[in-house]
Amino acid sequence: MRWRRQLSSLLITEAQLKRRVRELARQIERDFIGRDLVVVSLLNGTVMFLADLIRHLSLPLRLDFIGVSSYREGAESRELIFTKELRLEVRGRDVLLVDDILDTGRTLRRVLGRLRGSRPRRIKICVLLEKKARRVDKVRADYVGFSIPDLFVVGYGLDFAERYRNLPFVGVLRPQYYQSG
Ligand code: IMP
Ligand code: MG
Repeated sequence: MRWRRQLSSLLITEAQLKRRVRELARQIERDFIGRDLVVVSLLNGTVMFLADLIRHLSLPLRLDFIGVSSYREGAESRELIFTKELRLEVRGRDVLLVDDILDTGRTLRRVLGRLRGSRPRRIKICVLLEKKARRVDKVRADYVGFSIPDLFVVGYGLDFAERYRNLPFVGVLRPQYYQSG
């Protein structure tokens, strides 16, 4: 396939993703049982993870999205802009905030700041991936699919320049493909 040359390795297989997402869902179910749950997912990187996660959540829930986009230079994230605001009322509700990857923590810190302004009862954070090595902001995720080394990864929703989101696994992008721009 065409992307083969652009990836240096396969980091997380489809089978591993499937198994881990099911485990996360079970954990989340236990923690939110009997609560009025609002799942708030960040666009666009969470598409695949979110779809798989919520189909395994047998809890009543409502779903909404916040759009964030960071203009980036290479793989470094820069200015963050909000492209879609939350529409559901979350005051007094339990919120599960879902993101694809916790890297420096800047994105989630900004989003948390906004969400807290809507006065939810509590906010729990769920991320598919985290890179512990790169954290600059003090953000902790309550549910983490996989801790990964400091590599630029794509697939299963994660992109580079909006590409590769459709790969069904998580792979490592060769540095020459994101260091050039
Ligand atoms: P943070 O604000 O530095 O924590 O970055 C979070 C956002 O950066 C994620 O939601 C992703 O969109 C993006 N990101 C960080 N690391 C990667 C990666 O390895 N591959 C693809 N996107 C990434
Ligand atoms: Mg992204």
